[in-house]
Amino acid sequence: MNLTTDQKRYLEEWMSFLRIPSVSADPTQKEAVRQAADWVKNALDKVGCNHTEIIPTAGHPIVYGEHLIDSNLPTVLVYGHYDVQPPDPVELWESPPFEPVIKTTPLHPEGAVFARGACDDKGQMFMHIKAFEIMRNEGSLECNIKFMIEGEEEVGSNHLEDFVKNNKEKLACDVILISDTGMISREQPSISTGLRGLSYMEVTVTGPNRDLHSGLYGGAVANPINVLCVMIAQLHDKNKRITVPGFYDQVEELSLNERKVMAEAPFRLEEFKKSIGIQEVTGEEGYSNEERRTIRPTLDVNGIWGGYTGEGAKTVIPSKAHAKISMRLVPNQDWNEISDLFRKHFQSLAPKGVTVSVQTHHGGYAYVTPTNNIAYQAAHQAYFETFGIAPIPSRGGGSIPIVPMFENELGVKSILMGFGLDSDAIHSPNEHFGLFNFFKGIETIPRFYSHYCELQKKTN
Ligand code: BES
Ligand code: MN
Ligand code: MN
Repeated sequence: MNLTTDQKRYLEEWMSFLRIPSVSADPTQKEAVRQAADWVKNALDKVGCNHTEIIPTAGHPIVYGEHLIDSNLPTVLVYGHYDVQPPDPVELWESPPFEPVIKTTPLHPEGAVFARGACDDKGQMFMHIKAFEIMRNEGSLECNIKFMIEGEEEVGSNHLEDFVKNNKEKLACDVILISDTGMISREQPSISTGLRGLSYMEVTVTGPNRDLHSGLYGGAVANPINVLCVMIAQLHDKNKRITVPGFYDQVEELSLNERKVMAEAPFRLEEFKKSIGIQEVTGEEGYSNEERRTIRPTLDVNGIWGGYTGEGAKTVIPSKAHAKISMRLVPNQDWNEISDLFRKHFQSLAPKGVTVSVQTHHGGYAYVTPTNNIAYQAAHQAYFETFGIAPIPSRGGGSIPIVPMFENELGVKSILMGFGLDSDAIHSPNEHFGLFNFFKGIETIPRFYSHYCELQKKTN
């Protein structure tokens, strides 16, 4: 890939951003998170926003920037996040997570930047800052633009909701533009038309009042870890459906036609299995692999611990066992209601001899973006021009809880122009983002603005 001087500079700037370990979940990195916020503000200042600020919250700060040219023109609000997931397990990284390096891979012969946040979401968010810089330099920006970049997305956006509720005027806009999802492949661009909701729970099973010698007490006392495993095993039936009563009551069923359209998207099961090193896929009876990971709700254990996990062996019956369990939700499922249903059901599974506590961490609603609006059409046109092939709509399986909240509070739809790939290893060791994807994003975003402004003019 022959890079221009500007492109080389974009890369250097992006890599300097990636060196800041802005792990929102890690209290010891609070200062780094703040540093990343400063970095974003500074980047927005440099590219010519006419107002920028850092807004403190009870958690990590929000960076806000705007470039307002004419109140009669449309306003686009760009949302993204500068916080990243913890890098653990660090020993599985081939290069240190906060020392970005460019390496080639079979999928990325031009190279990809490897670092935590390379794709999710520092790289994708930064594309918008550079696209803005380009439009400013060209004098081609024909609308107002606002940036709201938060630092708590990876921990549930806990303080953003209040900020949005209290700043409706400030955030007023015609459309919200987000690059924090993926596309099908380099050859087949897609626009995300859905996000799943989420309900994140933590459970604790408590047995005896202290850890016990498993020889002296074993056989006569309920072991909280054994009990927890049995309880978890009961959360799915033999058809891999979730057994929580009422769980599916509100689930939106897609029409056969919608499912048929979905099935037309290119997908190779063999490659899917190979890419993650599994022999066979599994999931809810009656649904395809792609349906299972996008339009169907799920329940997964994300972590389980208790007892002795150190070196060697220790014969013990632990006093407590814990698990983190999350459910991905689909349209119409209310995450608060689902959390309650889960709590009741999980508690009802407890055998005598243990007590069970269930705590809700955070949650969010699912979201479906309409395709019959000008923002979608503008995005469609933009991808078509830069990829040379029409993008297809694609429901995604991940969650961005703030997106449905934007619609509720601001009455504004979001458009999800993601440029990531499933193989980018977001949240995993060796996260990366292809130079191809990064520069395609920077090329495609300005075209979105120009088509969007044009279509807005026509409809007014
Ligand atoms: N960017 C992701 C969400 C995503 C990735 C959506 C790929 C679609 C495709 C986001 O940063 C994320 O990781 N969200 C969390 C939820 C949050 C509440 C922690 C998720 O989906 O687990
Ligand atoms: Mn993200
Ligand atoms: Mn993420």
